[in-house]
Amino acid sequence: MSSIKKKFAEKAVPVATEVKTLLKDYGEKEIGKVTIESMISGMKGLPILLTLTSKLDPQEGIRFRGYSIPELQEKLPKLSADDEPLPEGLFYLMLLDELPAMADVKELADDWKKRAVLPDYVKKVLDATPPDSAPMADFAIGIITLSNESEFVKAYNAGAGKKDYWDSTYEDVMNFLARLPLVAAYIYRKHYHKGNHIPADPNLDWSANLAHMMGYDNPEIYKLFRLYLTIHADHEGGNVSAHTTHLVGSALSNPFYSYAAGMLGLAGPLHGYANQEVIAWIQDMIKEIGTATPSKEQIHDFCEKTIAAGRVIPGYGHAVLRKTDPRFSAQQEFAAKYAKGDTFIQIVNDLYEVVPPILGSIGKIKNPWPNVDAYSGSLLMHYNIKEAPFYTVLFGVSRALGVLASLLWDRALGLNIERPSSFTLEGYKKKAGIE
Ligand SMILES: CC(C)(COP(=O)(O)OP(=O)(O)OC[C@H]1O[C@@H](n2cnc3c(N)ncnc32)[C@H](O)[C@@H]1OP(=O)(O)O)[C@@H](O)C(=O)NCCC(=O)NCCS
Repeated sequence: MSSIKKKFAEKAVPVATEVKTLLKDYGEKEIGKVTIESMISGMKGLPILLTLTSKLDPQEGIRFRGYSIPELQEKLPKLSADDEPLPEGLFYLMLLDELPAMADVKELADDWKKRAVLPDYVKKVLDATPPDSAPMADFAIGIITLSNESEFVKAYNAGAGKKDYWDSTYEDVMNFLARLPLVAAYIYRKHYHKGNHIPADPNLDWSANLAHMMGYDNPEIYKLFRLYLTIHADHEGGNVSAHTTHLVGSALSNPFYSYAAGMLGLAGPLHGYANQEVIAWIQDMIKEIGTATPSKEQIHDFCEKTIAAGRVIPGYGHAVLRKTDPRFSAQQEFAAKYAKGDTFIQIVNDLYEVVPPILGSIGKIKNPWPNVDAYSGSLLMHYNIKEAPFYTVLFGVSRALGVLASLLWDRALGLNIERPSSFTLEGYKKKAGIE
């Protein structure tokens, strides 16, 4: 057994005991109240999930096992002092609740390298999808196809009991994270480079290797990928991709099915698809105004038009956050360092001045500030990765780190199937006291 797996097994037992005690001794204790608004308006703010890997604060933003993004940038192992953290280290932190040393990251990365093989049948399935299929559809197809090798399914069918589920899930999660960049890069090269695939470079880290297999070999792009794959990794348990992965996993669906389901949620315009929509929307703006360097007044008018047409401004607003997303700020800082003078990024920066007052003046919008998706595409564009329909796949690769670390904990804690109840309209009226 690898030392990381052994450590996980040792940590899982006392945490599982704590959760059981909480349930047994405090199961009747009430937290918050359920209003009809939260029942009908997407359960916003309802405390209904146990997620160990991260917590989202409306004012401060995300903390991974207690660490903010700037803290991770300082404390997680990096390849050099001015680099971004290695996302392998973030996975280690989320899984084990322990800041890794570089040796720990290396052990994990070496393990993933050994597991990083994309079976031929997955390639054949991906080759067979239509040339104009959406990259996110291919992504889900590739992930589901990989489930053929699920160790969890094998163990379950061989009669493994509940207390052992975590063990085979661990193998699935590690195999899966090792192979995910291969799936993503395969889809990218299939769609945008005539299927001219690039083999992995075993000397590169997880993020740089993804950039390399996509066809981008430049130390700055490697840095961007490390940042990108770190900041998108987790956003506590209630967001659509995390919650869906957890929900589907709660039925004991294998980790591949569970994560694929989460990815189909990420593909929605109100979630991860927003990163591509931002780009398409800014391109429409440039086309309509007729200049790549619009003034703030012109940007303002275009935003007003978008809202008047009943559309949302993509990349702005959030269901939990009530301030600028620190993931936006981290990318803005990266752009200030490496992408000075980029006119597209200038529009993104100008939008940050123009949009919040407009959204704020509407009144009904709870958060007028930008989220992660407002920035990410423009940085990829800066490095010539211009295929926006692929951007949500990149988001998905990163999100796997958090939701699969969580799924592994779900299995280790023996969490039950999720099954909230619903009311009919008559039921709600009765609750509201309406005759
Ligand atoms: C993220 C998002 C889905 C959160 O939704 P939410 O929790 O329902 O947000 P709110 O409670 O603030 O929404 C209240 C109203 O403001 C609207 N609103 C929210 N964000 C808006 C935006 N960026 N532009 C225009 N209108 C917006 C909502 O559509 C809703 O309108 P309705 O009452 O007519 O249905 C929403 O802000 C949004 O659609 N943003 C754009 C898409 C995006 O960037 N998604 C990525 C999120 S990480």
